[in-house]
Amino acid sequence: MHKLLVANWKENPKTELRALKLFKEIAAAKRGATNDTNAVDVIICPPFIYLEEIARSFRKLSVSGGAGGTKYLALGAQDVFWEERGAFTGEIGPNMLRSLGVRYVIIGHSERRRDFKETDGMINKKVLLALRDGLKVILCVGEPPAIRKKGIAAAKSFIKNQLKSDLAGLKNLRSGGARINAQSSLIIAYEPIWAIGTGKNDNPEDAAAMADFIKKTASVYFAAKEIDVLYGGSVNSKNVLDYVQYKSISGALVGGASLKSAEFGTMIARVGDR
Ligand code: PGA
Repeated sequence: MHKLLVANWKENPKTELRALKLFKEIAAAKRGATNDTNAVDVIICPPFIYLEEIARSFRKLSVSGGAGGTKYLALGAQDVFWEERGAFTGEIGPNMLRSLGVRYVIIGHSERRRDFKETDGMINKKVLLALRDGLKVILCVGEPPAIRKKGIAAAKSFIKNQLKSDLAGLKNLRSGGARINAQSSLIIAYEPIWAIGTGKNDNPEDAAAMADFIKKTASVYFAAKEIDVLYGGSVNSKNVLDYVQYKSISGALVGGASLKSAEFGTMIARVGDR
């Protein structure tokens, strides 16, 4: 069964030169991985401003490196706007991203919910347009610490509400006249907020149970039997296998550890070899 590692670079690194270097190192680690090419897919999500150069470098790699490992490497953005074009200063629409060769987009990251006051209603609009325009969506959900303190049942009910709002209207969504295939176009990342960037990762067994719950719940709102669910929050090369060993966890959304090519390369190798 293949697994997925998503690198969320956030507002890093400081310069385009460093971003290109990091990308090339990760791509080399992916290509160099001895395992079967479909054992682990890697999606790299740099800041918008670096996407064009990285996409150029990516195209060169795909040509010169042959299919091999780079076939399972893809580019993603960290956010997208809910309107295609128009008077929306500073915003970027899904087709703009697609025109650069971007295939995935992270939507609803807890940092966007917290720091930019993104509501479930806004996130829902982004999800709808991104899917309609043919991007694959990585939707982030996760409970704050105060909710988790009340117990797992409270966390589940919090996440159920997020999914209900974020996925509203998806069942009947069409793109170019065809119904959207939820299975291949939607990935959900479960990221308990208290685990992000804190080093306090969730108990893998609890995360796996939550992933199961998310699969079942999401399928009510978006007809699909097996949506991929990732775990995110302080995942690194030492603990990644604790999560991906579970069938219900399709991979990891990785922040800090994706900024160090050696560390992320080790994660690619370990997940691929498991
Ligand atoms: P982290 O971030 O791996 O640094 O905890 C994960 C994320 O925010 O996606």
